[in-house]
Amino acid sequence: MNRHALPDLTAKAISGGVATDRRHDSAHKHVTGEAVYIDDMPEPAGTLHGCLGLSTVAHGAIVAMDLAAVRAAPGVVDVLTAGDIPGVNDISPSGRHDEPVLAEGKVQFLGQPVFAVIAETREQARRACKLAKIDYDELPAVLDVEGLDPLSDRLVAPGLTLKRGNAAEAISKAPRSISGKMRVGGQDHFYLEGHIALAVPGEDRDVTVHSSTQHPSEVQHMVAHALGVPSHAVTVEVRRMGGGFGGKETQSNQFAAIAAVAAKKLVRAVKIRPDRDDDMTATGKRHDFLIDYEVGFDDEGNILGVDYVYAARCGFSSDLSGPVTDRALFHCDNAYFYPAVKAVSAPLYTNTVSNTAFRGFGGPQGMVGAERVIDEVAFALGKDPLEIRKRNFYGVSERNVTPYHQTVEDNVVQRIVEELETACDYAGRRREIAAFNANSGIVKRGIALTPVKFGISFTATHFNQAGALVHVYTDGSVHLNHGGTEMGQGLYVKVAQVVAETFQIDIEQVKITATTTGKVPNTSATAASSGSDLNGMAAQNAAQQIKDRLVAFAAEKYEVPVEQVVFLPNRVRVGNQEIPFGDLVKQAYMARVQLSAAGFYKTPKIHWDREKGEGHPFYYFAYGAACSEVSVDTLTGEYVVERTDILHETGRSLNRAIDLGQVEGAFIQGMGWLTTEELVWDEKGRLRTHAPSTYKIPLASDRPKIFNVALADWSENAEPTIHKSKAVGEPPFMLGMSVLHALSDAVASVAGHRVCPRLDAPATPERVLMAVERLRAAAGT
Ligand code: MTE
Ligand code: MOS
Repeated sequence: MNRHALPDLTAKAISGGVATDRRHDSAHKHVTGEAVYIDDMPEPAGTLHGCLGLSTVAHGAIVAMDLAAVRAAPGVVDVLTAGDIPGVNDISPSGRHDEPVLAEGKVQFLGQPVFAVIAETREQARRACKLAKIDYDELPAVLDVEGLDPLSDRLVAPGLTLKRGNAAEAISKAPRSISGKMRVGGQDHFYLEGHIALAVPGEDRDVTVHSSTQHPSEVQHMVAHALGVPSHAVTVEVRRMGGGFGGKETQSNQFAAIAAVAAKKLVRAVKIRPDRDDDMTATGKRHDFLIDYEVGFDDEGNILGVDYVYAARCGFSSDLSGPVTDRALFHCDNAYFYPAVKAVSAPLYTNTVSNTAFRGFGGPQGMVGAERVIDEVAFALGKDPLEIRKRNFYGVSERNVTPYHQTVEDNVVQRIVEELETACDYAGRRREIAAFNANSGIVKRGIALTPVKFGISFTATHFNQAGALVHVYTDGSVHLNHGGTEMGQGLYVKVAQVVAETFQIDIEQVKITATTTGKVPNTSATAASSGSDLNGMAAQNAAQQIKDRLVAFAAEKYEVPVEQVVFLPNRVRVGNQEIPFGDLVKQAYMARVQLSAAGFYKTPKIHWDREKGEGHPFYYFAYGAACSEVSVDTLTGEYVVERTDILHETGRSLNRAIDLGQVEGAFIQGMGWLTTEELVWDEKGRLRTHAPSTYKIPLASDRPKIFNVALADWSENAEPTIHKSKAVGEPPFMLGMSVLHALSDAVASVAGHRVCPRLDAPATPERVLMAVERLRAAAGT
């Protein structure tokens, strides 16, 4: 499609309206290298480069810091420590003031930034960093949650309790019960573009920061606090990120704050781009969890009561651990109704990097607990786990109250699962696999079909708001800005489609512009999958205001009733004449009609009482299901995903091309989390997996050999969301669970499917092999 085409004034439809399969606006630029990331921007004359000096112990008091050699190194212009921060030395997003920009007096994890070298070149800064001599008085370090008491040991944020009915009584009265533990590993974000900030000092107290962040407003606030200046002095801008995945909700603060402090002190632009090893060592990841569960059930496999404790390794500061562990509890049900439930979260303090948001925001860890419980029940009864899943799904008009007392009103899990089950011939393949396994000594196959139900909205109610700014220029072209950020997920193109649709103009007429705190203020992080829900509505609201003014103007000028002003593709019918959109705009300008508007949206219906553990925290749910088949080499533990079938719903999709990409990418990322991506810290608290050499994300060759992905074409949002679409960013991540459970199924086959393999995540080949050995020993096979 010609991007510079002039609008076609005879067209029956605009190009790039909603519900068209429009490619990502930057797709061609991503693959050709034309897309400008912060490190590609021309550097202002005299730009300096920063490198962070990281703590080499996990916990200790700083006794002495000798930075003389660092200062004397070639090219070094300055070395900053905590004392150089003119404002507040804190970038904690939680308000608990527990996260210094640079360590002061003590360090709390190995890798914590202690000082920052600012030099003429990046290379000089990195070399100088190594010359620091810091003496620590080492203190005992708590590295893991294993062995901690979730109820009495130190928490970084208050835990949450969800309760409905009497779980203890239900479990004790149940015909059967099982208790167990599960470990679920963390995950590094492994964005292609790592963290980066470029701070450019302005006059007076001003500074502009180009930050690779999902949360420009928070970077603005943190930079303002660190500098001790009002928010109005700080402008934060981001055109795009090369991936965020939650890792840039809060973790960008550090780099932006230090770059800004240095830039203002030295009156030169300062850029900080940590290398991959430092990025992985110093920035937070997905929380790993230790899940304790107990389930009571009957001989049919009906769950009667469950009791969960979700203990999370949060690291040294609160960061987002409170809300992340809350969301884990909100998803301890996945798609299942619990007649009686108690679930407790324990966000535990450890001397490790402070864990943070990652796609699903704790939800995936919550669901993994629920699916383990399903496996336990199924293997105890010798039944197919899919049968247990279906038996325990939320009902449509009964058995539909969640552990947080929200009624599930939009349940489509049965329909999705039934359709997928048929489409992928689950039953037939289950039989084939059984026959295959009966005749195969070494290679065993497994299959699993797992559902996803994911709650959409920020659980902190006030974050569910958004703003947008739309200008129509006198040639009819449109400038669009909103509070959402682009990290590859296709938010910009979706919101542009919404605006194009509102004005009935080709999307080429709509210019997508970089997110900046100077245009739309007080924005929420682009997170919780709600980017298009929130910003799409805000942008539509802004465009509609202008459209309403154009209608009123045209009706008055041409003396027709407003009903006779109709927006057609690239033109407006006024009475019985058709006027090109651009011409009408020009006439409106001449008549002094305002052609710019700020839009706003806030999500209706939601409320949440955390003390009571009751409310309606989610506006709606997004559903999906995946069926994966694996084959496992039981001599080595190696495995291959043979086939995956997915059916996922995105409501009336704004853009199916983008949504399919989100579903595929999310599934692969979820599969990586549960299979090969393993974070290993040694006994000193040093992260040993801090580069692609030791940390294995899925490769193209690891994707399922057969990969069928479909969006439910019947899906539509029952709520009045933007064009009845549903959020898509996070929910399909959890479809990756089907691979973990297919592995579990393959392993279980060595003991006749009567012993639950209790596969922990990530189910690396090593863990799979150990589980096979364990089951063989138990079954005496
Ligand atoms: N897709 C790409 N390509 N890159 C990303 O960083 N982040 C995910 C998801 N999809 C991400 C992505 C996460 S964690 C979220 S919350 C959503 O996108 C955020 O964007 P949205 O709200 O516009 O869907
Ligand atoms: Mo996504 S974890 O909400 O940034």
